[in-house]
Amino acid sequence: MRFRPDLGWSDVTPRADFLNRRQLIGGAAALGGLGLAAPLRAEIQAAPSRYSTDETPNALEEISGYCNFYEFGTGKGDPEKNAGQMTTDPWSVEIGGLVERPGRYDLADVMKGQPLEERIYRLRCVEAWSMVVPWIGFQLSGLLDRIGVQPSAKYVAFETLYRPEEMPGTRRPVIPWPYVEGLRLDEAMNPLTILATGLYGEALPNPNGAPIRLVVPWKYGFKSIKSIVRITLTEEQPPATWNIVNPREYGFYSNVNPEVDHPRWSQASERRVGGGFFAAKIPTQKFNGYGEYVAGLYDGMDLTKSF
Ligand code: MTE
Repeated sequence: MRFRPDLGWSDVTPRADFLNRRQLIGGAAALGGLGLAAPLRAEIQAAPSRYSTDETPNALEEISGYCNFYEFGTGKGDPEKNAGQMTTDPWSVEIGGLVERPGRYDLADVMKGQPLEERIYRLRCVEAWSMVVPWIGFQLSGLLDRIGVQPSAKYVAFETLYRPEEMPGTRRPVIPWPYVEGLRLDEAMNPLTILATGLYGEALPNPNGAPIRLVVPWKYGFKSIKSIVRITLTEEQPPATWNIVNPREYGFYSNVNPEVDHPRWSQASERRVGGGFFAAKIPTQKFNGYGEYVAGLYDGMDLTKSF
């Protein structure tokens, strides 16, 4: 299903309502450059992306009902059960480190001037399941350009909200809190890397990392950090949660790679969520199928060693 300008969300998606389109990501003001009166649907139609897959997206019920968001529990259904209590408005992101214009930016300000796009991406979890998700978001590069990256910056560090009173999973030391992640600057600037603020024409659901989360489609899902409150440009490689927990099993890069098995299971194939327990596994693609856009980032690197 390639995105066709003559088709709207309601024609191509299993979920066909646009009830909350105006509150997509942080209220109408957050729509920034988009005309407020114009239906978001039309705006999204005006900006189809060549980066979208033509595979059929998973249903919203699958995308928000089968989640990893350990702040709300380790069960796949826990985020849907528990993430509703997370306050996402007001929301601000502290942007700092090696940048020209550091500060605490309201969500609407983070989004200001950034063109929203629909990006239908495959998401491949390191646990060997996958989905197809119709994100709405904007390129991280647009935000970094606006904030101004200093020449000495080499990495981008991200941090998730840590609010134990609203996040029952964080009251136990399952993993170190807050959840943190990082990218090399050129990975962050790649056009595939987006900050997602919506899903299926609505504001991002809390279980999926409302109100703003990273999506890096050629890497295992754990790199795509949710509910971001801090972005810091650094010279040194920043810490990444799963890499800290077990560096032998979870590398800093964690590019999807069927040739490098997880020490405890094969990464050669994956189970598409929603396909049913007996559905055939599908072969995993190197860089999750996005190699034409990102393989060049790793020229000269041995991806079995720097995995
Ligand atoms: N971000 C935070 N803050 N906490 C998490 O537990 N889980 C990661 C990633 N981002 C996680 C997170 C993992 S393992 C995956 S596979 C994806 O989120 C899942 O995203 P989804 O639940 O929206 O499909």
